[in-house]
Amino acid sequence: MIDQITIGRIQDTAQIVDVVSDFVTLRRRGVNYVGLCPFHDDRTPSFYVSPSKNICKCFSCGEGGTPVHFMMKHEQLSYYEALKYLARKYNIEVVEKEFTDEEKQAQSDRDSMFILNEYARDFFVRMLHTHPEGKATGLTYFRERGFRDDIVKKFQLGYSPEQRDAFSVEAQKAGYKRDYLLKTGLSSGNDNQPLFDRFRGRVIFPVHTLSGKVVAFGGRILKRAENTGKYVNSPESEIYSKSHELYGIYFARNAIVKQDKCFLVEGYTDVISMHQAGIENVVASSGTALTHGQIRMIHRFSENITVLYDGDSAGIKAALRGIDLLLEDGMNVKVVLLPEGEDPDSFARKQNAEGLHQYIGKSEVDFIRFKTQLLLKEVGDDPVRRAGLISNIVESIALIPKTITRSVYIQESSQLLNMQEQVLIAEINKIRRRNYDKKKDQKDQKDIKPVPPPDWEPDGSPASGTVAGSRMSPKSPYEKYEREILRYIVRYGNRPIYRKFEKRKRKEGKAVIEEDVLVEEGPGVTEFVKFDFDRDNIAFTTGLYRRIFDEAVTYMDDPHFDSGRHFLSHADPEISRLASELISDRYHLSKIHAKILGEDLDDKDSRLLEQNLLNSHVPRATTELKNAYVLQQIREIRDEMKQGNPNDSVSLITRLKQLQEIKKVLSKELGERIVLKY
Ligand code: CTP
Ligand code: MN
Repeated sequence: MIDQITIGRIQDTAQIVDVVSDFVTLRRRGVNYVGLCPFHDDRTPSFYVSPSKNICKCFSCGEGGTPVHFMMKHEQLSYYEALKYLARKYNIEVVEKEFTDEEKQAQSDRDSMFILNEYARDFFVRMLHTHPEGKATGLTYFRERGFRDDIVKKFQLGYSPEQRDAFSVEAQKAGYKRDYLLKTGLSSGNDNQPLFDRFRGRVIFPVHTLSGKVVAFGGRILKRAENTGKYVNSPESEIYSKSHELYGIYFARNAIVKQDKCFLVEGYTDVISMHQAGIENVVASSGTALTHGQIRMIHRFSENITVLYDGDSAGIKAALRGIDLLLEDGMNVKVVLLPEGEDPDSFARKQNAEGLHQYIGKSEVDFIRFKTQLLLKEVGDDPVRRAGLISNIVESIALIPKTITRSVYIQESSQLLNMQEQVLIAEINKIRRRNYDKKKDQKDQKDIKPVPPPDWEPDGSPASGTVAGSRMSPKSPYEKYEREILRYIVRYGNRPIYRKFEKRKRKEGKAVIEEDVLVEEGPGVTEFVKFDFDRDNIAFTTGLYRRIFDEAVTYMDDPHFDSGRHFLSHADPEISRLASELISDRYHLSKIHAKILGEDLDDKDSRLLEQNLLNSHVPRATTELKNAYVLQQIREIRDEMKQGNPNDSVSLITRLKQLQEIKKVLSKELGERIVLKY
């Protein structure tokens, strides 16, 4: 237990930017900082950190809070543990009271499991360095493998003795409960049978979270036994989900940020050997296929990833699979193929640091080059297989979320494959549309129903009778709502939807000057719309609007991007014409407000006013679009019910009820003045 005074001191001392930066790479935006949210699948920064308020908040998923909250949520700590963590970080002395039995009892399972894991790690480390058997077999093994003692210590490698219950007995003697020994998987044993050790006779690799807590262990066998695998790992548990952890991340974090790059390898020994060779920005997926959760963890520190693969065919297959997942998450992917028969561990051990750096430097290629070279070798001159190869590469490029990055790769592969860019682009657009439709099909029924395919064009009738008017595409029923949203995007682009100022007094010589200081800033208009759309899985149904929006999104993080100017002078005449219409639109919203205020504003004033109203009008515009979807769907369902296929009626009624629920929520939002608050 920590006394109240100390708690207060910790809360006062912990700086949110400081605390969050240990886990998320932050960039300054105005007086705030932004980064990729660690709490949801975030591809563009929506996590805001406000130094003045000392809080953080995800604009998209809503997670956040004080430094203590952040630590609790991020590292799955109890309140008490989070405080202790911060106290350590800021060198605040904590005088702990003894736990009473009740307090001990009250500690959550998770806490107990972490504490037990810590105890186990210390036990295994002690065995490795002091137990005769540990020294003779474990430590000798590591040394023979070429691991230096300082590296063995750093990675907290250990040894679990051969005796079947050495650990279980000692842990129970020390007061650790059977229940937790089983839950962490450190021990096994049926019913009331005595416990035995999962890792007996193995060297131990502890698996650390970002903040260095031990969530699991891997144990490698030393002798080749027929009936057990080379590695045994902790089972999945309340504190351990294999697909969410990356081996080595705790030791790699700072180096990843510093070098703005992360190496990805396969296993424990690869990470350790690379560290030893001086490459510290390295993590492992631990032998399993990479998951989005793991990629997200890397992405928070850097966009650049280089994957090291074994040069055998299994390694290459794995490479091809992993790459697509990384691309989809918006990472810049490079590949290093090691000489045949080498894995990063064996290769790193043969090289000194310099040799390894050199090899990587000269063999690192971007994924397109890697794929093309590899597959070209395989297919030879066969035209059918060549077509297959091209579509394989095109499929990968289509996964890349950023338009600009995509077009860079399109250019490159056009050269490598000797194909016209236009052909590749057309193919990629087709695939993107198909993927988009597929995603919609997988969506949960409860969500707002997927939007129609994006093949609407706005009413082609031109403002001034140009030839474009001959287009006869039908108009999307949502077009007018979309146009309203687009208007904000084109006019205001990256302008924050709100800014908050505070009066501050400042002494200058003898004079006291009062000034307005910017203390908080919301997301940009495009950014807001993007998050809002993503959250409900919606998109512009009008093709032209989508194109503009997608382009605006690629500039979303550029503070110098002048959206109005960009689209007005756009090379595509359709876009520049629409931009000029949107920009010269009458500002009816401002007019309404001017009326309410009883003032007669000139044009400049009304524009200023409109800017100040972004915070209420932009969210309103997106809500209005969602509302239109829902109303349209209700209409469709009613029609369907009238036509009356009795088999469907139950599901139709259920669906109708859901929609009416959504409608109620939306109407309520529309009824109120929407003001976003942090
Ligand atoms: N792995 C695992 N569980 C297994 C097998 C493998 O967790 N049953 C993970 C480990 O992280 C391991 C990695 O997959 O490090 C790669 O496996 P492998 O190449 O078999 O092991 P190495 O670590 O290379 O072991 P060594 O070089 O000692 O043979
Ligand atoms: Mn190996």
